[in-house]
Amino acid sequence: MDSGKRLTFPLLMAVGTAVLGSLQFGYNTGVINAPQKIIEKFINETWFERYQEPITKGSLTAIWSISVSIFSVGGIFGSFSVGLFVNRFGRRNSMLMANILAFISAILMGFSKMASSWEMLIAGRFVVGLYSGLSTGFVPMYVGEVSPTALRGALGTLHQLGIVVGILIAQVFGLEAIMGNDDLWPLLLGFIVIPAVLQCILLPLCPKSPRFLLINKNEENKAKNVLKKLRGTSDVSSDMQEMKEESRQMMREKKVTIPELFRQPLYRQPLLVAVILQLSQQLSGINAIFYYSTRIFEKAGVEQPVYATIGAGVVNTAFTVVSLFVVERAGRRSLHLLGLLGMAGSAILMTIALALLEQLKWMSYLSIVAIFSFVAFFEIGPGPIPWFIVAELFSQGPRPSAMAVAGFSNWTANFIVGMTFQYVEELCGPYVFVIFTVLLLSFFVFTYFKVPETKGRTFDEISAGFRQTAASGAEKHSPEELNSLGADSQL
Ligand SMILES: *[C@@H]1O[C@H](CO)[C@@H](O)[C@H](O)[C@H]1NC(C)=O
Repeated sequence: MDSGKRLTFPLLMAVGTAVLGSLQFGYNTGVINAPQKIIEKFINETWFERYQEPITKGSLTAIWSISVSIFSVGGIFGSFSVGLFVNRFGRRNSMLMANILAFISAILMGFSKMASSWEMLIAGRFVVGLYSGLSTGFVPMYVGEVSPTALRGALGTLHQLGIVVGILIAQVFGLEAIMGNDDLWPLLLGFIVIPAVLQCILLPLCPKSPRFLLINKNEENKAKNVLKKLRGTSDVSSDMQEMKEESRQMMREKKVTIPELFRQPLYRQPLLVAVILQLSQQLSGINAIFYYSTRIFEKAGVEQPVYATIGAGVVNTAFTVVSLFVVERAGRRSLHLLGLLGMAGSAILMTIALALLEQLKWMSYLSIVAIFSFVAFFEIGPGPIPWFIVAELFSQGPRPSAMAVAGFSNWTANFIVGMTFQYVEELCGPYVFVIFTVLLLSFFVFTYFKVPETKGRTFDEISAGFRQTAASGAEKHSPEELNSLGADSQL
């Protein structure tokens, strides 16, 4: 039994290599934040060269907003294509193949300046969005399948950590003294070749997913050999047993397609909860921070906006680590409620800071505090919780379809925020964060009345709760969870 907890070298290497994909996702989320002005200058100059007239503010905002948010359009397509790859080529080879997209994107973005083409920048952002959509499906799946049960939760969180560290790295590299300047910004965007090359070298040395070998390929001996390497022991019968049991369970429970998921009344309530929770994550405004914080800080009168942005990245990483310890123990529902409320409070602080900036210079410091606490509360609740709850609301049969719908909602809301934030900000001025406050409070009310606690409850208990709600219109939350079989929180 002890071998089930061993961190062997092949296991660490497999997980570490896979998580490079999460790092890429985070990097590309954060990379366009700090150098916004510099790349806008490039767009302006290119426009002038082509049309012999300066670019209008409207066109510049449009081109920039598209460059930022087309990433999420790629993400939508990518996340929907995960299933096409993983079962045909396997998890490891799918990750390997996805790197082609990273290379294409690096070339498009890295040479956009030389070619005087912002179209290449936009195309590159789209392609790396595709890569990221695929990665966010591949990585957690592979990591979950190579990890022993006892370490699955802990190693699974490395995906989340990879993302926030990626954001932080991008923010640091975006400093003017490093790569966030007129000459080097193409390198900053093209930097994604480095993790891609690393992954291409290391992935072939990593084992294939034993679960894929056994269940999809029916190659029992290969699966056994892989497991022996990963576990560092010759007795892998309990792992094999568990996978076979899981496969039998999957046979028993028929796969539910997406149209079926929408049609069956049984799934209506959980699906609504799943979608709204995803929306609560993205419409909280968090990506307004990750995409635009440098600009926000600048408008708030912060003297070194890029350093404030890096500060936000550090807070983000620190609180992700905090939440890793809390999430498994505390109730999901309470954490989500706490996070939403804290974010709403921070958004109000931010509004005050922006509104009083003219009269009180020190309000720029309040804006830093507000954004830092906004990010911290995000990582406590709306960051990790929606994915947890979605996985726990659905059993094996409908889960893949539910996750696809959730992913689609998530990326779509991400796109809306990335695309519209600058426009709304120009329209509302200092009151832009009022919108997020209203949204956050609405999500708080929804969560309070409609979202059940899922921790430590089985699917049967959860769905019984939903039926009861539908019947009575009111809901009781048991304060202490029934200590039953415990729904597996992994994807
Ligand atoms: C574009 O560049 C010109 C020349 O440097 C500058 O005067 C103008 O304000 C810029 N336009 C925008 C929208 O930033």
